[in-house]
Amino acid sequence: MCGIVGYLGRRDCTDVLMDGLEKLEYRGYDSAGIAVFEENNSIKTVKTRGKLTAMKEKLTVEGKPLGHCGIGHTRWATHGEPSDVNSHPHSNGRVTIVHNGIIENYAELKEFLTDKGYKFLSQTDSEVVACLLDYYYSERNPLRAITETLKELRGSYALGILFKDFPDRVYAARRGSPLIVGVGEDESFIESDIPAFLKYTKNYAILEDDEIVCLDNNGEHFFDVHGTPIQKEIQTAEWDVEQAQKCGYPHFMLKEIHEQPEVVKKTIDSIVKDGVPDFSGIGLTDDMIRGFHRVFIVACGTAMHAGIVGRYAIEKLARLPVTVEIASEFRYMDPIVGEGDLVIVVSQSGETADTKAGLELAKTRGAKTLAIVNVKYSAIAREADMCINTLAGPEIAVASTKAYSVQIASLYLLAFRFAYARGIILEDELKRLTAQLYKTPKAIQDAIDQSSQCQFIASQLINTETLFFIGRGFDYALSLEGSLKLKEITYIHSEAYAAGELKHGTISLIEQNIPVITVATQKHILEKTISNMEEVKARGAYIIALCRKGTAFAGKTVDLKLELDFGDIDDMFVPLPTVCALQLIAYYSSVLRGNDPDKPRNLAKSVTTE
Ligand code: G6P
Repeated sequence: MCGIVGYLGRRDCTDVLMDGLEKLEYRGYDSAGIAVFEENNSIKTVKTRGKLTAMKEKLTVEGKPLGHCGIGHTRWATHGEPSDVNSHPHSNGRVTIVHNGIIENYAELKEFLTDKGYKFLSQTDSEVVACLLDYYYSERNPLRAITETLKELRGSYALGILFKDFPDRVYAARRGSPLIVGVGEDESFIESDIPAFLKYTKNYAILEDDEIVCLDNNGEHFFDVHGTPIQKEIQTAEWDVEQAQKCGYPHFMLKEIHEQPEVVKKTIDSIVKDGVPDFSGIGLTDDMIRGFHRVFIVACGTAMHAGIVGRYAIEKLARLPVTVEIASEFRYMDPIVGEGDLVIVVSQSGETADTKAGLELAKTRGAKTLAIVNVKYSAIAREADMCINTLAGPEIAVASTKAYSVQIASLYLLAFRFAYARGIILEDELKRLTAQLYKTPKAIQDAIDQSSQCQFIASQLINTETLFFIGRGFDYALSLEGSLKLKEITYIHSEAYAAGELKHGTISLIEQNIPVITVATQKHILEKTISNMEEVKARGAYIIALCRKGTAFAGKTVDLKLELDFGDIDDMFVPLPTVCALQLIAYYSSVLRGNDPDKPRNLAKSVTTE
C-alpha cells in the first residue's frame, strides 16, 4: 500500500526518489509521482496514473526535475480513482505533500477548508492535509504548522512534506503507517521501508507514532507531537542489498520460493538450543505456557492461513484449544479474550492495520501477546509482549511465500514447546519432533526440484476460468493457501473447501472438466479424501492430486498426479514442502497467462489501512 520516499543530499534527487520508489513497488500501487525543489527554489512535480514505466516516460517528456531535495510516492487508490490528478504529491498554497494512510475525518476537514476559501483539485482524502498545513502555516514556522495539523487529523498517516519557503528541508510525520528515516553521510532519507535506501546507507531511525522529523543540511532532527526536540536511536539494518534484488531470477516471487529451504533452516536455528525449541530468550517460559488456557491466532491473508496450520499443530500436540481469527473480524467482534489467554499475532510486514489493532485489543483485555513477525523494526514487533522474529529476509513479491513457511516453522516449534511444558510429551519426543522439523528444508528442496511438473500442471490450467482446491486437516489448510496464491496472481476464480464439506452445496458447481486440485498428503484420512475425489470425479471434474510419493489411486480417479518425496517426515510437517509445489503452480500459471506475478493487480503487500 502506498510507498513514500524523500531525499535531501548531494545526489540527483530524482534518481534517488525513482530508485526508492522502484524498491517500494512491491507494496502495490496504481500511480506514482515526485516533487523536487529546482535551482530557482520552485517545486517541480511530475505525476501520473500507472506504473513507474509511465512515470519514466513522463519524466522524459516533461523533463526530469533537477535538484537535491524532494519527495515521491506510489499510490494505492483509496479515495478517488487512480488518475493523474489523484496521484501524489499534492500541492496547495505553500505546501506539497505525499501521504500513506487514510484521513478518516477528511470530509469534515474539507468542508472547513472550503469555507476558508481553499479549492480542491483531487478527490483524495490526502489533499486536505496539504491545505490544512497551509492554513496553519504562518511566520515561516513549518514545525508549528505540522503540530497544529496533526492535532486535527484522525486516521492513519505517514507524511512527507515540503514547504515552499524551505527548499533545503524535508519534513515527515507518522501515525499508524510506517516511516523510516535513513541516516547517510551528508544525506538523509525518509522511506516506507528499509530496502528503499539500503543501497545508500544501512543506518536508520524508526519514526514512531506522533513523531516528526526534519531533514536539513545538518542532518535529521526529531520532535514529538508538540514540537519538542527528542533524541532517537540510530540502528543498523541487518539486510543486505542482494537480499532485495532478483539475483538472476526473472521474478522476486520465484527467487523467494527458492529461498525457502535456507530461510526455514535459519529460522529453526534461531529458536532451537541444544536440540530443542527454547523461547526463554523472548520471555516465554514453561511456567508461563502452563498458565495459558486458550490460544488465539490473529492474522490476515497468508499469515492467517499459516495460523490454521499452527492451530492444527498446537491442538494436536499440546491439547490446548486454539482459535484462528481473521484480524479484521476479531477487532470488532468484542471477543471473549483476557487474562489466561495467549494471543499470537502473525504478520510478515508487522504493519498490517487490522492485525495491529487485534494485538492492541488483546493487550487492553489483559491477554499475553506474542508476535510472529518478519520485519524486526515493525510496529507489531515492537508492541507485542513477546516477539519471534522470523528470518525470511525481505519479501518483495506481493504474494507471500517464504514468509508463510517461516511462520509455520515457528508455530510448529511453539507447538512442541507447549506440548512439553504442559507435560504431554517428554524431552525425548521434544527432541525427536525438533529433529523431524530439521528434515523439512531437504523435503522443501525436493519439492522445489519438481518445478517442471508444476509448470506442466500450470500449462493444463491455461484455459481454466474456475477451479477448486480440496483437502482435509493440514491438507485443508494448504488448500486455502494454494487457492489464495492462485487467485492473487493468476486472477482465476478459485475456492478452497474442506474435502468433506464440498457436497454440502458447492458440489453443484462441479461440471465437466472443472479442475479440482486435491491435496492428499495425510495418510490417516487418505481414504476419506479419496472418496471425496470420487464424488467430484463422478460429476466430471478434472482431478489434479498432490500426494506423497507412491500413493496409489484406483482406476481413473486422478487425471494428473504430482508425487512429492517427503522422505520419512511426519505427516504433520508436509505442509512445508507441499506449499512450495502449490506456490510454483500459481507462479507458472501467472507467468503463462502473461501476468507479472510480483505485482498483481489491485493488491498491496503491506495493508496499513482497515
Ligand atoms: C496483504 C498481502 C498478503 C498478506 C496479508 C497480510 O493482503 O497482499 O500477501 O498475507 O496482507 O500481511 P502481513 O504483512 O500481515 O503478513
